[in-house]
Amino acid sequence: MELAKRHLLLGITGGVAAYKAAELSRELQRRGATVQVVMTEAATRFIGPPTFQALTGQPVFTDQWDPRIDNSMAHIELTRRADAIVIVPASADFLAKLAHGLADDLLSTLCLARNCPLLAAPAMNREMWAQAPTQRNVRQLTADGVRLLGPGSGDQACGETGMGRMLEPDELAEDIAAFFTAQRLAGREILITAGPTFEPIDPVRGITNLSSGKMGFAIARACRQAGGQVTLVAGPTMLPTPRGVRRFDVRTARQMHDAVMDRLDGPQARVDVFISVAAVADWRIANASTSKLKKTADGAPPQLQFAQNPDILASVAARPGAPYCVGFAAESEDLERHGQEKRERKGVPLLVANIGHETFGMDDNELLLIDAGGSHRLPRASKTELAASLVNELAARLAHPIARS
Ligand code: C5P
Repeated sequence: MELAKRHLLLGITGGVAAYKAAELSRELQRRGATVQVVMTEAATRFIGPPTFQALTGQPVFTDQWDPRIDNSMAHIELTRRADAIVIVPASADFLAKLAHGLADDLLSTLCLARNCPLLAAPAMNREMWAQAPTQRNVRQLTADGVRLLGPGSGDQACGETGMGRMLEPDELAEDIAAFFTAQRLAGREILITAGPTFEPIDPVRGITNLSSGKMGFAIARACRQAGGQVTLVAGPTMLPTPRGVRRFDVRTARQMHDAVMDRLDGPQARVDVFISVAAVADWRIANASTSKLKKTADGAPPQLQFAQNPDILASVAARPGAPYCVGFAAESEDLERHGQEKRERKGVPLLVANIGHETFGMDDNELLLIDAGGSHRLPRASKTELAASLVNELAARLAHPIARS
């Protein structure tokens, strides 16, 4: 789990977005973190400490003079155990305190006494956010190395709309997890295809496959978490776009091909890595009908003719100055031999084979990495975990390039 063994001190200040911190505390624990909550007095007006006590299984602290901490040294003890302090929500007032080094309650004292990173998720009315003092404090905090998470823009609890809205708990959890992920793909442009394609027979029918897109989306997310700039070209799937990933939706193999080539040929095009995870249809219907096919009186079925689709991966790999290309393959037998053949045929340095064929739609998988040096197994794990391992493998290969074919 990405936040395993991380101990986070979750600081809650006075704002209506405090209720979202309850959901965040669950989400952080779901990702493996332990969470210690400290609240300001104002925060307790919005949500009660027992809620966090129940959700985290830890006592909640609000008072600098809390007798539960020996020697009244709460400000030292609580921070020394933390890998990071995360302030959610961070009110305008609390940002001002942080920017000026004030320490007049437990949470602000903890922030000043910390020897760990500080992250803060601002949440306030749009006018409060836009005011010169707040913007000055934000610049100061950024210069001081405080990591601000958001804010976003949108509907606000006060009924207005604008900048200052706190990020949602799942967005915050993603950003916090990324903060703890080694930025091994920082500065890399990564293009990924994912999901199935859909080849129309007529306006209401078509041929597709069982690819869910889960593996490709998990890889897009892991690349982003590791600091890469990620563009995802996705076939038809209901999956949500991973945070920070640019997404283009396509339907057919030819549309996918064109979307990929556009990314490679654009005026400021730069792609360092191409990861082809999509289950692209090998054939399309050459005589697809523009109107719905009807049953005929003599009962004769329609005669479909197939035409071969372009091989996107092979075309990308064959371009001069091609990005580092990674292919995927679902082979049912003699994985290594067939995988090596396919890798050489497609002209790619790395081919990832699914071990076992019932992986479509599942949440876990087992992979065999095949390159010019041989093969290497990534044991069965969730697609999220496998994606993170694959990013590490990729980063190591980019750092020490081996033969490109
Ligand atoms: O040939 P096969 O479908 O087994 O190859 C799998 C690899 O090639 C995958 O990485 C897939 O995304 C890619 N591919 C492609 N365009 C096609 C067919 C496959 O990019 N038309």
